[in-house]
Amino acid sequence: MRLLSPVLCALTIAVTVPALAAEPKALYDTTCVACHGPTGKGAIPGVPDLATRLGKSDAELAASILNGFQTPGSPMAMPAKGGNAALTAADATALVGYLRTLGKS
Ligand code: HEC
Repeated sequence: MRLLSPVLCALTIAVTVPALAAEPKALYDTTCVACHGPTGKGAIPGVPDLATRLGKSDAELAASILNGFQTPGSPMAMPAKGGNAALTAADATALVGYLRTLGKS
């Protein structure tokens, strides 16, 4: 019994936390990966390597994710929220942090 409570406690935390804010990697792997690819280099023509876009501030990148973004003259736009209507502002901020780690491991 003594051992059981910490285990139960850890389980509760593991189950509760993702419900509060979606885990950025899980979000990326469902909402973003089809266009941006697993390392952010781009999976389809018209999608730029994200590494070339990370010079912008976190706030600018989060705004691009939430509102969508198109460079003038570019062949394809980034869809608002990556096309996932459930994506929140907190998710966008967490995703920016995740993008900054992509391709670095
Ligand atoms: C339908 C394909 C598609 C999906 C899905 C998509 N993107 Fe994009 N994304 C693009 C394209 C294309 C661009 C480049 C747009 C341009 O510069 O004209 C882009 C650009 C970006 C940029 C750079 C924006 C800037 O300000 O320079 C970020 C950051 C980004 N995407 C993150 C994400 C994240 C995070 C997701 C998932 C929530 C996502 N994208 C889903 C196609 C997509």
